[in-house]
Amino acid sequence: MIATLGEPLTAWMPGPILGIETSCDETAASVLAVDGAVLSNIISSQHAVHQRFGGVVPELASRAHIESIETVSAAALQQASLAWVDLTGIAVTQGPGLAGALLVGVNYAKALAYALSIPVVGVSHLEGHIASAWLQDSAFPLPCVVLVVSGGHTHLYYKEPSGHCRLLGSTRDDAAGEAFDKGAQLLGLEYPGGPAIDRLARLGNPGAIVFPQSYLKKGSLDFSFSGLKTALLYTLQATSEQSRISRTADFAAGYQEAIVTVLVNKAFAAVHSSGVHALAVVGGVSANSRLRALLEQRAASEGLRLSLPPLAYCTDNAAMIAAAGRQALRAGLRASLDIDAHASLVSPFAQAI
Ligand code: KG4
Ligand code: ZN
Repeated sequence: MIATLGEPLTAWMPGPILGIETSCDETAASVLAVDGAVLSNIISSQHAVHQRFGGVVPELASRAHIESIETVSAAALQQASLAWVDLTGIAVTQGPGLAGALLVGVNYAKALAYALSIPVVGVSHLEGHIASAWLQDSAFPLPCVVLVVSGGHTHLYYKEPSGHCRLLGSTRDDAAGEAFDKGAQLLGLEYPGGPAIDRLARLGNPGAIVFPQSYLKKGSLDFSFSGLKTALLYTLQATSEQSRISRTADFAAGYQEAIVTVLVNKAFAAVHSSGVHALAVVGGVSANSRLRALLEQRAASEGLRLSLPPLAYCTDNAAMIAAAGRQALRAGLRASLDIDAHASLVSPFAQAI
């Protein structure tokens, strides 16, 4: 069973659910139909706000969420052709994330739940990413291995037939998305770095400049990306400015290759050691075109079921939060109206049931 924080809910009338996500730099709202179909998925990105700072500025993020949460939620309802009173539940990201940013969503969700007299559930952002694997393919099988690759997490899970997730491995230092973002900064590319490297790498040769791939000790399903970032720094320092400029695409392609190759090899190692036949890869980095291509090739050659959510469900969105919340509500959970944001909600699964 999914491990959303909450209290028992005696009676819940299944119906449309509003999901709200404000953990970082996207204000998002989505409505799911009673059968789980996505009726709307509205995302207001703050990239333009943070771009000139080269990263997310927490205070600016909170302000931008406050400014757009009402409009984004109303747009989600409108696109779903529903009225507020049609909603039967609300799911909101409770953590992990930026405290001030989370608070905007949590308080908005609580106020709405109170005004509409409907239940609210607090969802872990990670649970949301995991749930995104089933948004497009509700029949995707269990058990399976799930790789969550985002700006803050690189986690491998074994998802049991019951739905409960067991951690198989995680990063010991930087997350995969962080490695992309920091690498992009070293290469002088714009924020967010992942999409910028992805685009540039298509023009480069991934074999021209080879970067180290860290596998840690034999059989380990943990990750480490901090050495790779240092290798890029040293290589750039040892390269003339002219060559750095003319070969930026090769640097991007080689750097990206080192990250995605490790991700693919570890994900498949987890699949083999767990004896499952299905792999889901979710989170912002799963939008990476090279990663998607390698995963698809390997899954096809090994006859494995692969769930790679459509791009709109890879990076932060509220459809995934609504999906995780829907499972929680169906499982009979609800949060009380004094729930708070949890900036460092470590693992949803530790607080399970
Ligand atoms: O899931 P997400 O939107 O937010 C977090 O939960 O962190 O993931 C954001 C991360 C960022 O590090 C971003 O650079 C990375 O996902 N990302 C990508 C791509 N699109 C987003 N990384 C590589 N290639 C992409 N196309
Ligand atoms: Zn995320």
